[in-house]
Amino acid sequence: MVFSLTTERLILEDLDGQDLANIQRIASDPRVMHYVFIWLETDEQVAGFVRHAIDESLRSDRRDYLLAVRVLGTGAFAGFAMLEIDPKQATTAEAGYILLPAYWKNGYASEILRALLAFGFDELSLHRVYGKCDEMNLASAHVMEKCGLTYEGTVREHVWLRDHWRSSRYYGMLAEEYSPSG
Ligand SMILES: CC(C)(COP(=O)(O)OP(=O)(O)OC[C@H]1O[C@@H](n2cnc3c(N)ncnc32)[C@H](O)[C@@H]1OP(=O)(O)O)[C@@H](O)C(=O)NCCC(=O)NCCS
Repeated sequence: MVFSLTTERLILEDLDGQDLANIQRIASDPRVMHYVFIWLETDEQVAGFVRHAIDESLRSDRRDYLLAVRVLGTGAFAGFAMLEIDPKQATTAEAGYILLPAYWKNGYASEILRALLAFGFDELSLHRVYGKCDEMNLASAHVMEKCGLTYEGTVREHVWLRDHWRSSRYYGMLAEEYSPSG
């Protein structure tokens, strides 16, 4: 059965094979990928990403939710979202979101993150959900702050990300801090 989460304006659902072209669109847009710490440089990496998403969706002990974000009503592909349970610590998960530029600045990422927090805390009974972003990615940092995550610190220049040393800002929320209205 296809997993899905519905928000006010979006549906987040399992990626399928037909989303390969959609992930290619994301991967080939430097405006989107500039701050993204996921390697989708080659056709093989993109195909591997989609295959991993589909494989995970079929596992009974699922850890990764890699979800297509579609606009409710039209079904237009807007981007993807993820909630990835830590393989070493099943009560912790990382949340993330990537949107095509046409969908930026409409509050979609905040809507997505709130849905992932609700799913993580209410349905999966997680203890901690965290996110990280390039310290130059002010929009993503703002999304996490708007959704009530706490800034936990910056790991400095830990990886060469295509054209710069990336420093990552970490944000987290604990179950006791989660409020559905937040
Ligand atoms: C980061 C991203 C997900 C934000 O998505 P979005 O749907 O535009 O986010 P929202 O509209 O929910 O919120 C963005 C907030 O940041 C603000 N913002 C946008 N660009 C900004 C910038 N350059 N500097 C500061 N704030 C900025 C917006 O005004 C908005 O705040 P507001 O609601 O108080 O006005 C989107 O730009 C994106 O997909 N970028 C490329 C991929 C990416 O970086 N993903 C995150 C990886 S960590």
